[in-house]
Amino acid sequence: MWDALFTDCRLATMAAGAPYGAASDGALGVAGGRIVFAGAASDLPDRPERLAISVERLGGALVTPGLIDCHTHLVFAGDRAAEFEMRLKGARYEDIAQAGGGILSTVNAVRAASLDELIAASRPRLAALIASGATTVEIKSGYGLDVENELKMLEAATRLGADCGVRVVRTLLGLHALPPEFHQDRAGYVRLVCEVMLPEAWRRGLVDAVDAFCEGIGFARDEVAELFEAARALGVPVKLHAEQLSDLGGAGLAASYGALSADHLEYVNEDDVAAMAKAGAVAVLLPGAYYFLGETRRPPIALFRRHRVAMAVASDLNPGTSPLCSLGAAMNMACVLFGLAPEEALAGATRNAAAALGLGEEIGTLEAGKAADFAIWRVAREAELAYWISGAAPERVFAGGKELRRSGRPERKTQER
Ligand code: NIG
Ligand code: FE
Repeated sequence: MWDALFTDCRLATMAAGAPYGAASDGALGVAGGRIVFAGAASDLPDRPERLAISVERLGGALVTPGLIDCHTHLVFAGDRAAEFEMRLKGARYEDIAQAGGGILSTVNAVRAASLDELIAASRPRLAALIASGATTVEIKSGYGLDVENELKMLEAATRLGADCGVRVVRTLLGLHALPPEFHQDRAGYVRLVCEVMLPEAWRRGLVDAVDAFCEGIGFARDEVAELFEAARALGVPVKLHAEQLSDLGGAGLAASYGALSADHLEYVNEDDVAAMAKAGAVAVLLPGAYYFLGETRRPPIALFRRHRVAMAVASDLNPGTSPLCSLGAAMNMACVLFGLAPEEALAGATRNAAAALGLGEEIGTLEAGKAADFAIWRVAREAELAYWISGAAPERVFAGGKELRRSGRPERKTQER
């Protein structure tokens, strides 16, 4: 017997092929935390009551894969509202960073926070993403910038995932900014990240992938290449913040290392888009940062489509450039600001986001064999998921077949037969 069977619903399976992969009179079967059936109710092998312990009719609601936020920096302490005010008065993000503010001001706050304080400060942000429908969230380090504090951030991310009942994917972002103590010794810091920070995080099982900020105010291509060599030697997947503010050829470099994704990409050139297509790297679009920094150059969506580069959409949740705790809002911005179709935005927050995390076999679509991560939405049209500026609110969210409790809302009893 299956554990649960949901019927009388529309399924947006998001399996590759037709938009939404929709089944209108759909059914979703769950057993042992995995999907055992996803398709038309007429294809069920038996009568619902004979198949599952619990059978629920959803009254025509829409069921989608659990959303996947494949790019966040949600573990941090403090905030950057003062910097926001400075930017509104005309200061540029790059100038604030160069004057020792920006990322480094968050580094000071993170270093001063204990592990428990860091977790407590970050938990509401993860809870908000879950409330927006997320069942998998990637979290980067990058505000510790020394071995002890980067490990503390990764530990915080690990604990938050366990506490909140969602899958958290941890990415080491040691090459995010040059810490002040290495001001005279860039090479020494890159060496520390490659030779100590990454191997130590890996040995402790605290890291799933490696990232870097390839930018004029971040790190150069050859420094990133050094990190990617170290990651390759250990077998750690790589991804890259590339071409957010200028074209340094980061996306091409990432593609040459078989990166899972290159992220931002406002300034990427066509050769590097072609290289990404060849390498199967996902283009992760981060409209929250584009919006919050008041950028005007959009990522080349037409080129991604033409070269068949899969596009993901993520929140980039961080204190400096994207204080955005809703994946639905990021989907809305991807449509309004970048011109994605609503079904592309949803694919970007499900199937393609899974690929950007190397989890395409496990999550991202409603297909038998995958984890039972899904969200139920009381909407009449699929496009509504990208329509609300503040994001649509899912009625219920399940991760690994278990219903996640939403704050302020009592746990719902499933209807037993
Ligand atoms: O993705 N670009 C670098 N990292 C973040 C910003 C981090 C910050 O300003 O704190 C980003 O936009
Ligand atoms: Fe980022």
